[in-house]
Amino acid sequence: MAIKLSHSRAMNLHSQYPGVLDLKLRAQRRIPHFVWEYLDSATGQEHTKDRNRAKLDEILFAPSILHGEFEPDLSTSFLGHAFPLPVGISPLGMSGLIWPDAERLLAAAGKRLGLPYSLSTVATQTPETVAPCLGEHGWFQMYPPRDPEIRMDMLNRAKAAGFRTLVLTVDVPVASRRERQVRSGLTTPPSLTPRLLAQVATCPAWALGTLRHGMPRMRLIDEYAENLTGLSSTAHAGYLLRTSPDWEYLQWLRDNWDGPLLVKGVLRAEDAPKLEQAGVDAIWISNHAGRQFDASLSSIEALPAIRAATSLPLIFDSGVEGGLDILRALALGADFVMLGRAFHYALGAIGAQGPDHLADILAKDMAANMGQIGARSIADLKGALLT
Ligand SMILES: Cc1cc2nc3c(=O)[nH]c(=O)nc-3n(C[C@H](O)[C@H](O)[C@H](O)COP(=O)(O)O)c2cc1C
Repeated sequence: MAIKLSHSRAMNLHSQYPGVLDLKLRAQRRIPHFVWEYLDSATGQEHTKDRNRAKLDEILFAPSILHGEFEPDLSTSFLGHAFPLPVGISPLGMSGLIWPDAERLLAAAGKRLGLPYSLSTVATQTPETVAPCLGEHGWFQMYPPRDPEIRMDMLNRAKAAGFRTLVLTVDVPVASRRERQVRSGLTTPPSLTPRLLAQVATCPAWALGTLRHGMPRMRLIDEYAENLTGLSSTAHAGYLLRTSPDWEYLQWLRDNWDGPLLVKGVLRAEDAPKLEQAGVDAIWISNHAGRQFDASLSSIEALPAIRAATSLPLIFDSGVEGGLDILRALALGADFVMLGRAFHYALGAIGAQGPDHLADILAKDMAANMGQIGARSIADLKGALLT
């Protein structure tokens, strides 16, 4: 994959940060602890988060021998577009809290790399402020507003800002408790207590960036909240604006959005044909990285049955930590794989060029493992699993 970093800089980064774990460890040192807890925590005792990892590790391949020399083709086409890698950036709320200006940095990285970038409804930037950085593959993730006028306005704004694909997230019917996050002292919006300020003081790059870009807040939600109620705080606004959608709501969205519509947070096979009937363009299998429900099956466990239940394209996320995990999901029938936290580790570790380095790690890791498996292309992965 053609990465725009100079060769020597790229080699240097690979010797310093050969894998996602190296990015994670450095990011953890450069991000204040309460922010790290927001990024890294799941809900309950984090069994679902652990299960995502454990079940990915159980997916094994049969290595191939005597297949000769080849350079694997990592490219794919998805929803009518060609991509250099079957990889994109998942939406993260308050992304700009995790690393200053993260939304615009990630949108710009998506543009450079030719990969999809998803902007969350509860990001610290609005569709308009991200628009100048956005490439061809901007996906807008919607937490569904209750108010029909706000709903329509959000769709129009996303479209006008250049987001061609709409993602409806359906695995947050209620707020989750995220006890570890509460323990860290993080509130919504963040209020800088002396305890939190002491953590900020140990992370100068984060602190300076945050000073430069302003205190992170949910700008899009704030704008609507101010107009609707005069509230300037996101404390209540999020729940005032977002609802738990039903099938009728989905139909309304389908009728009012003329681009690709994706539904994110699907784990049950029986929902797949219904989504297909509702006119959805792709299904996004995800358990929100274990942040919503601590008795959930892992995303990778859900994938085979959903693959069998629908011919719709499938997106996979939750717990992907390297190229090998991407191959695992593709081999089980996913068409595209998204990563959320890993792209934020990359920003936290290296800054603006971090996502490019992460994409390079993923590409190299995919290629090395495809060499072991004897898979010349993504299509070859399907028959390579150990059964
Ligand atoms: C800090 C954080 C915030 C998130 N915010 C959102 C969000 O606003 N909307 C959404 O659809 N998913 C959200 N997610 C879930 C991600 O989009 C994605 O499904 C998940 O992070 C993928 O797992 P990974 O981080 O292991 O790659 C969030 C995840 C994290 C870690």
